[in-house]
Amino acid sequence: MISDLWYKNTVVYCLSVETFMDANGDGVGDFEGLSRRLDYLAGLGVGAIWLMPFQPSPGKDDGYDITDYYNVDPRYGTLGDFVDFTHGCKQRGIRVLIDLVVNHTSNQHPWFQSARSDPNSPYRDWYVWSNTKPADADQGMVFPGVQDSTWTRDEKAGGYYFHRFYEFQPDLNTANPMVQEEILKIMGFWIQLGVSGFRMDAVPFVIAEKIPGVKEAKEHFDMLRTFREFLQWRKGDSMILGEANILPEENLNYFGDDGDRIQMMFNFQVNQTLFYALASGDTRPMIEALERTKPKPGTAQWGQFLRNHDELDLGRLDKNQRQAVFAAFGPDKNMQLYDRGIRRRLAPMLGGDQRRLELAYSLMFSLPGTPVIRYGDEIGMGDDLKLPDRNSCRTPMQWSDEPQGGFTKSDKPVLPVISEGPFGYEHINVAEQRRSPESLLNWMERLIRMRKEAPEIGWGDFTALDTKDPGVLALRYDWRNNAVLIIHNLHPEPVEIDLDVGCGEQGRLLIDIADSQSSEADENSRHRLLLEAHAYRWFRVGGLDYILRRTEI
Ligand code: NOJ
Repeated sequence: MISDLWYKNTVVYCLSVETFMDANGDGVGDFEGLSRRLDYLAGLGVGAIWLMPFQPSPGKDDGYDITDYYNVDPRYGTLGDFVDFTHGCKQRGIRVLIDLVVNHTSNQHPWFQSARSDPNSPYRDWYVWSNTKPADADQGMVFPGVQDSTWTRDEKAGGYYFHRFYEFQPDLNTANPMVQEEILKIMGFWIQLGVSGFRMDAVPFVIAEKIPGVKEAKEHFDMLRTFREFLQWRKGDSMILGEANILPEENLNYFGDDGDRIQMMFNFQVNQTLFYALASGDTRPMIEALERTKPKPGTAQWGQFLRNHDELDLGRLDKNQRQAVFAAFGPDKNMQLYDRGIRRRLAPMLGGDQRRLELAYSLMFSLPGTPVIRYGDEIGMGDDLKLPDRNSCRTPMQWSDEPQGGFTKSDKPVLPVISEGPFGYEHINVAEQRRSPESLLNWMERLIRMRKEAPEIGWGDFTALDTKDPGVLALRYDWRNNAVLIIHNLHPEPVEIDLDVGCGEQGRLLIDIADSQSSEADENSRHRLLLEAHAYRWFRVGGLDYILRRTEI
C-alpha cells in the first residue's frame, strides 16, 4: 500500500487545550482559543499538533481518565469547535494527533458504572476482576508513593478490579474482542473528524495480558497490527505514536519486523541518556542508546523529545548516572517525583541560560527521528513547584505581559499562571519574544526550519563520528546521496577537534546551514574545527544546494 510517511520529517508540538488559550474568559482554555492561535503555530513552522486528552473527564489525572470517548469536554467547547479546529489545521498544512487513552477509563465512565453494578452487565467483561485480592496486588504500580495497590475492592461489584494507574482508572480488559472493536470505533470516529493519528497512551499495558496472579504477563503484539491495519485501511496517511518506555530489545516487537505494527514510539532510552549527557558532559551512554535503538523498519520512526507533561523518568539510567542528573537538574526533594524522576521544565533546569537551552534543543532536533516539543518550550517557560505532582510543569501558556499572561481574561485561571521571578509572564512571554530577533522563540523558528530542511535526519542512517572527546558529539546522516553533519560541544569551554568527516561522493565542502559559511575538509577528509563553549554547528556536506538534488517523497 502506498501511504504518506509525513511523520518522518516534521516537528510535533504538544499542547493541552485546557492551558493553551481561553477565548470565552471562563479561565479554562478552549478550542476556540486554540483555533485563534493556529497562525502562531503555523508561523513557528510546526508540522503536527499533538492534543492531550480533551474528552469529557472528571479531570483527576489531567484528562487521562475519560468518561466519554466520543465527545469534547464541554469546558473546552463542542465537537463543532473541534472540527473547526481540525479544518483550520488542514488549511495551514498542520496535522493533528490526539491522545488515545484506552488502557483504562475513568471509574465514572458509564461502562464501569454498569460493570460494577451488575454481574450480568454487558460491560462486566470490559474490565478485569478478581473475587479475592491477588497476592501481587502491591506490585506494578506506575505511581509509587501515590498509589499503593494495583487491585482495589469495589463493594458494589463485590470484587477487586485491576488498575495499572490510579484507582479511579480501572483497566479495560483489552483482550476482550468487544473492547478491541470499540477501540477501533474510537479511532475511526476521530479519523473521520480530521485527525491524522494517535499518541497511544501506555502501550505496553494496553497489550499486556491482564490476568490476576500472572507473573510474566504475555503481550499481545498482534493487537498493534490490528490497530495499524484498521487505520491505514480507513485513511492511508494515519499513524500511531506509541508511549512505550521499553528496553531496546523490545523495539521490533512494537514496530513489527516488517514495519507492520505501530509507526512511531518515543525514544525514552535516548531521552534519559541525553539528560545524562547534559548533566555530565559525557555523550557515550547516549551514543550507546542511539546505536541500540538504531535497528528499526524503514517506515518506522522515533519521536525524540526533551521534556513532556510527566516527570522526567530516569529509571533506565544506572544509579550513578541518575544521581548525576538529580544533582545537576533536580537536587531538592521537591523537584523529584516517584523516586525516579524530575518534575521540572527544561528552562529552569538549565538556569534559564539561552545558550544552554539552544544547545539542548539543537541536540535533540539533530537526533535520528522526529522532534516533539511542548507548548511553552519555544519561549523557555518555567515551572511552579508549589503545585502538586506533575502539575508543576503544566501551567498556562504565557502569551503577553497582560494579566494572567494573556491566557485568560478571568482572574481565576484553571491553573496559576507563573508570575514574578525570572520565569514569570512579565518577562517570559510570546509578545515580548516576537519583537526580539535573538529571542528563544525566533531562534526556535529558525531551528524548526533548519530541521525540516534536513530530511536526512528523519529518513537517513546516522554515523557517530569519532571526535576523541566524549563531550563533543558529531552525527553524520546520509540519505539519497545527501549528507548532513551536526556537531555539538557540551563543554562549558571552547574546544578544538580534528575529525574525519567521511567525505565521499559529496565532496569536501562543508556549508554551515545557519550562516552559509563554507569550509573544506583536507584531502584525507579530516577537518579541524574550533567550537565555542556549548556550540552547535549544522553542516551540509558537499556544498551543493540540496534542494537542487533532493528527491521528493
Ligand atoms: C501516561 C500519561 O502521559 C500520563 O500523564 C498519565 O497519567 C498516564 N499515562 C495514565 O494515563
